[in-house]
Amino acid sequence: MSDKAILEINAQKYEFPLKTGTENEVVVDISNLRSLTGGISTLDSGFKNTGSCESAITFLDGEKGILRYRGYSIEELAEKADFLEVAFLLIFGELPTREQRDKFHTDIKAQSVVDEDLKKILEAFPKSAHPMGVLSSLTSALTAFNPSSVNVNSEEDMYKAIVKIMGKFPVLVAWTHRKKQGLPLDYGDKSLGYVENVLKMMFRQPNEEYVQNKVLVDALDKLLILHADHEQNCSTSTVRIVGSSHAGLFASISAGISALWGPLHGGANQAVLEMLEAIKLDGGDTKKYMAKAKDKDDPFRLMGFGHRVYKNFDPRARIIKKAADEVLDDLGIEDPILDIAKGLEQEALKDSYFVDRKLYPNVDFYSGIIYRGMGIPTDMFTVMFALGRLPGWIAQWREMRLNKEPIGRPRQLYVGATERPFLEIDKR
Ligand code: ACO
Repeated sequence: MSDKAILEINAQKYEFPLKTGTENEVVVDISNLRSLTGGISTLDSGFKNTGSCESAITFLDGEKGILRYRGYSIEELAEKADFLEVAFLLIFGELPTREQRDKFHTDIKAQSVVDEDLKKILEAFPKSAHPMGVLSSLTSALTAFNPSSVNVNSEEDMYKAIVKIMGKFPVLVAWTHRKKQGLPLDYGDKSLGYVENVLKMMFRQPNEEYVQNKVLVDALDKLLILHADHEQNCSTSTVRIVGSSHAGLFASISAGISALWGPLHGGANQAVLEMLEAIKLDGGDTKKYMAKAKDKDDPFRLMGFGHRVYKNFDPRARIIKKAADEVLDDLGIEDPILDIAKGLEQEALKDSYFVDRKLYPNVDFYSGIIYRGMGIPTDMFTVMFALGRLPGWIAQWREMRLNKEPIGRPRQLYVGATERPFLEIDKR
């Protein structure tokens, strides 16, 4: 293959280098396009063809259904690693030794107390507030209680900020849940593992001892690993672009939480369950909803189906589907919603509308069914996604700052009014 691309505009030829990644992906490097052509830009709405950075964190091949963190397959990590090991891997680049993992956990636990005054902010929210709005606000509020900026040139400073957010974020997640449930706010238990602690902080009743359920711990651990990173998706790009202005880590992550909230992104897990519930209430007629999804005059979409990058099975969906069966089985739950989900999937996989558009179940199609089996309320699903995505956001923010990326600032094609004279108000 040639090592350059040639662009011809008005009979003038411009050359741009091709760059090849470690997995042989090829990009055209257009970083000097405007300077070479005297101000011509590209237009790529939704960034469908545009790489925003070079990254060594996550590789995915949407055609083949491959997902790897730092070179390790998602299947192997979900089976063999725990969430903290995966977090360490994503952020620092290598799987930790036992000593490194234990130290990481100890340092996180040492930072797992949040300022009591944060409770006053939480108290001010109405119970009806969506947990994602509350979580984003509380995360942003952390900046006020931890005002010192991170010196990104100091590994030690970076590390401190990372263990701080890893320690405090689960407390915010648990408090968001407890506030909504009317339960007293609770701190974690330093003797527990990271995931066990999350479950206890969320579900402990004030008048009884909390008993850990290994099935729930393992299921949540797996779900968090599967959600931990997914290269330059909407929320991650948000974290990187906010951080590119040199805004701090907590502020960047708070922005990422807001981006994740939308139903086309992380909010899809809530939307899937609400859709499955609606289908059940409507008599379970999956064919009717398949027809609605295909009708261009109907805004209904089959939530949990389709993906910007995967044009094959989302490998995370395969793992989650299997886990959903196992978890519900272990917990002795028979959920008719799981049957509706499987029915929809079967129909979609043989329907030409979905086949032609390469629409397959994504990570969110089955995750809500597990969350529901675990007793997590529907509007907390996206919060659980955020908890899993936290190490990915941190890793991407850290990489962006260490690579000294410039401030993110896209161009546009202006299509508004050309210059016109101002009209006094009584002449308009
Ligand atoms: N149901 C019905 N039709 C769909 C669906 C769906 N879920 N998804 C895509 N399509 C159709 C579109 O209508 C379009 O059809 P057309 O070519 O006839 O106009 C075609 O498939 C391509 O869809 P786009 O919206 O252009 O694809 P895009 O890459 O922009 O969107 C997205 C991807 C947002 C994920 C989309 O598939 C969708 O809305 N899915 C449902 C929401 C969802 O599950 N989101 C979670 C994604 S995973 C995550 O973020 C964690």
